[in-house]
Amino acid sequence: MSSTSGFNNRVTQMLGVELPIVQAPMGWIARSPLASAVSNAGGMGIIETSSGELDAIREEIAKMADLTDKPFGVNIAQAFVRDPGIVDFVVDQGVKFVTTSAGNPMQYTEQLKAAGLTVFHVVPTLRGALKAVEAGVDGLVVEGGEGGGFKNPRDVALMVLLPLIRSKVDVPIVAAGGMVDGPTMAAALALGAEGIQMGTRMVSAAESPIHTNWKQSIIDAAETDTVMLNRHTSPALRALRTERTNALEFDTETNAMTALVGKTMDLYFGGDMEAAVALSGQVAGRIESIEPVASILETCAADCLALLGKLAADYPS
Ligand SMILES: Cc1cc2nc3c(=O)[nH]c(=O)nc-3n(C[C@H](O)[C@H](O)[C@H](O)COP(=O)(O)O)c2cc1C
Repeated sequence: MSSTSGFNNRVTQMLGVELPIVQAPMGWIARSPLASAVSNAGGMGIIETSSGELDAIREEIAKMADLTDKPFGVNIAQAFVRDPGIVDFVVDQGVKFVTTSAGNPMQYTEQLKAAGLTVFHVVPTLRGALKAVEAGVDGLVVEGGEGGGFKNPRDVALMVLLPLIRSKVDVPIVAAGGMVDGPTMAAALALGAEGIQMGTRMVSAAESPIHTNWKQSIIDAAETDTVMLNRHTSPALRALRTERTNALEFDTETNAMTALVGKTMDLYFGGDMEAAVALSGQVAGRIESIEPVASILETCAADCLALLGKLAADYPS
């Protein structure tokens, strides 16, 4: 499918989307209301499996067929897989695009590709990128350490990581970490990406199912209001600064996961911001309102193209 949106590259072609904008997979959040809104807006909606609730996810994927006739994908967050049959599960759902993350790309790529899926693997380092290419992935999601969620404890900013990986591999790249609007998308394209993935911006979107308190905390956050937890152990993660996460930021004794993960639902859907960790990226400092997905994607794409046009005019080669 060729795009009529002004974006026509390997990512739009491989994913069959109008806009090379991917919605991040996020446990309990990346379900059919959010993912279908993204797919209907021309981007790539993704359904999560990191919650481990495969029965619920099967229903979410079934709902997608009613909510959109556009392509959507599934994520396998490998570190959180409890069911060894996860690949068969994903293949059985009939999706055509999968991102794999938080694990060894050698583990599932061959099986997923043999079943006809397009596979992008998420990488936080050049080493990881080279390994994923060797494993035969179709593309990479290159994720900078400023992004929200589980992270490499030795975090590298996207500004360094993306051009580094671009200079060493040929496969298409989707940039993740700090992506929020037209200028960040244009910057990612300039640094060698052919698409972007948004996490924190999608948490804040109107169709995101999480409690308003989390959305409001993102809006209220300064760019310094996230913490990187668990650098000393595994998994490291970036989350919003709250009283409890602030106390854990430089605590090298406590595993923040054990300290905070117990009451995830109280935070996600009950709005108690101190009950668990609100995974979010530094870009929270740039998000100022709750907006519908369609308006986020439309504005992002239009502003990106306008900026690229302006730069070409301002700096003729
Ligand atoms: C709440 C939340 C949950 C996440 N869960 C996952 C996940 O299950 N699998 C995954 O590959 N990435 C996950 N991530 C990381 C995102 O996929 C994405 O790469 C990251 O949020 C990008 O940075 P940004 O937050 O600056 O947009 C999560 C991020 C957030 C904010």
